[in-house]
Amino acid sequence: MIDLTFEIIKNEIMASDIFEMTLKTDKLPADIKAGQFANVKVPNRTDLILRRPFGIYSVNFDDNTIKLGYALRGQGTQALSILPAGTKVQVLLPLGNGFPAVEEGKKVLLVGGGIGVLPLLSVAQSFKNNVISSCIGFKDASLQMKVDEFKALSKECIVASDDGSLGEKGYVAQVLAKYIDQINPDVIFACGPEIMLKGLGEFAAKYPTYVSLEQRMGCGIGACLVCSCKTKKNDEEHYARVCADGPVFRFEEVFYG
Ligand SMILES: Cc1cc2nc3c(=O)[nH]c(=O)nc-3n(C[C@H](O)[C@H](O)[C@H](O)COP(=O)(O)OP(=O)(O)OC[C@H]3O[C@@H](n4cnc5c(N)ncnc54)[C@H](O)[C@@H]3O)c2cc1C
Ligand code: FES
Repeated sequence: MIDLTFEIIKNEIMASDIFEMTLKTDKLPADIKAGQFANVKVPNRTDLILRRPFGIYSVNFDDNTIKLGYALRGQGTQALSILPAGTKVQVLLPLGNGFPAVEEGKKVLLVGGGIGVLPLLSVAQSFKNNVISSCIGFKDASLQMKVDEFKALSKECIVASDDGSLGEKGYVAQVLAKYIDQINPDVIFACGPEIMLKGLGEFAAKYPTYVSLEQRMGCGIGACLVCSCKTKKNDEEHYARVCADGPVFRFEEVFYG
């Protein structure tokens, strides 16, 4: 990991209360993997000491840019949203484990909900030797993002919304249930609200499934234990640091609320 100075190239709204920030630096680290995240220092705000973690959903090594997508939540994301192009930002990256490599030719199914679709887009972009299918869901059409990109990068792309204003009506897991046998994936990668991840249990029993978790963080580098969460491996419980041991875990390692 390395702490680099980036310049904001673009910072604009991409869906209702969701922003996309494009950042450029002199030389990106070569080892950024799909599913890893960056810790962003909010510039010019001495009161916001802790950096904010965001998934790196797009990387371009040719022009040394990355893209982050962020939903407006509290003070940090509000402050980021008003930064103009040209602002300098300190970013620590790449952090976390990212999604595991998958053998060439294997079928990868991406299952995402809301802003959780973004880290999965980085998989669709970088797993070029795999067959990608995707099932992405949003609360309603105003919150859709990157649907065309998923369609372009996926062999098949199922789109759902809770209210039916976009794609099929229903929650992601309900809609996916109609298609999963036909897709017959070798592995599932999922990211989204915990309730959506929990709903993937019946698929995880049949197909190896990895989930990317979100947890309140402090340092983002494994030192403070703020992000600890109870996990299980081989029936033994232990505590994992989401920032350093995750954010990607096997479905069955996680305790869902
Ligand atoms: C690995 C990882 C990847 C993430 N990727 C994205 C992403 O791509 N897009 C996106 O919109 N959000 C993402 N989040 C959540 C994002 O970090 C929080 O929404 C953001 O930090 C909120 O900051 P705030 O100052 O606006 O909110 P506040 O509530 O004011 O934040 C106060 C403090 O709590 C921390 N915090 C609050 N909520 C979260 C949270 N859910 N996760 C971690 N720390 C939190 C903040 O970093 C800050 O230190 C991710 C979280 C993690 C852990
Ligand atoms: S955020 Fe400090 S150990 Fe994970």
